[in-house]
Amino acid sequence: MNTQPPTPSLAVIVVAAGSGQRLGFGIPKAAVPLSGESILLHALRGVAAAGVARQICVALPAGDRQLADICATFVAELARSSAGVRGTAAHPAVTTVDGGATRQDSVQSALAGLLEGTEKVLVHDAARALTPASVFRRVVGALKAGAVAVIPAIPVVDTIKMVAPTEGSAATMAPEVVTGTAVRGQLRAVQTPQGFDVDTLLRAHATAVDFDVETAASITDDAMLVEFLGLPVHVVVGSTQSLKITTPLDLVIAEGLLEGPLGARWSEG
Ligand code: CTP
Ligand code: MG
Repeated sequence: MNTQPPTPSLAVIVVAAGSGQRLGFGIPKAAVPLSGESILLHALRGVAAAGVARQICVALPAGDRQLADICATFVAELARSSAGVRGTAAHPAVTTVDGGATRQDSVQSALAGLLEGTEKVLVHDAARALTPASVFRRVVGALKAGAVAVIPAIPVVDTIKMVAPTEGSAATMAPEVVTGTAVRGQLRAVQTPQGFDVDTLLRAHATAVDFDVETAASITDDAMLVEFLGLPVHVVVGSTQSLKITTPLDLVIAEGLLEGPLGARWSEG
């Protein structure tokens, strides 16, 4: 457990209110077991290990007792880890809020639950439960250097093409046709935690209130909202270990990382 003092005025929002449809366990994804413990507990331990925050604000599915209990277990674990260690900084405050129908709603709900005086915030997916501490620290480092928005990202390994449905007689050949190919060297796969100056993120979310349904549905991360404000979003190096556990295959990969040759704790930075 990291024992360095948390960065003053920094909070980490952990969004864990999704239903996990694609994982298909029939329970919220954050409660799904990963090597014997919930995805949420792994994610929270990862946040605490980074040692960057004075508050961890977790958005949970409204009324979910199991996930609330997991948060309570985590709080007890934190208390035990810092108890009796002379000179150890107080562990972060862990608070919970009810998430909403969309990820964006859950972030908004958590933003309203931040402690007074919070100036910087990281927004992190519980589903990226294996994110290394080094990624958190790189994001915080960029915020400290003056960035108002920071995302971790990794190069894309696949070639990415734009497609459209095939029309007319060509539809008998294949359902889609290529309309263009992106320049792979310029593409990045974006991860969390994404870091923000709080006032900027609040302003960015406030603009989203007026979006039409189509635009709202196209918003897949918080940084997009800051981009709409015309502000720069800076990019630091992410990690392949920050994979978002989305499908059953991702769960197998994540368990392989935890239990395989990398050992119980991952190492890639
Ligand atoms: N999330 C949330 N509130 C929502 C939807 C998503 O807090 N209403 C969180 C999820 O818990 C997850 C992160 O946002 O940690 C990324 O979402 P995703 O991977 O899509 O998770 P789910 O929405 O749970 O999965 P699915 O889309 O397959 O149902
Ligand atoms: Mg989802």
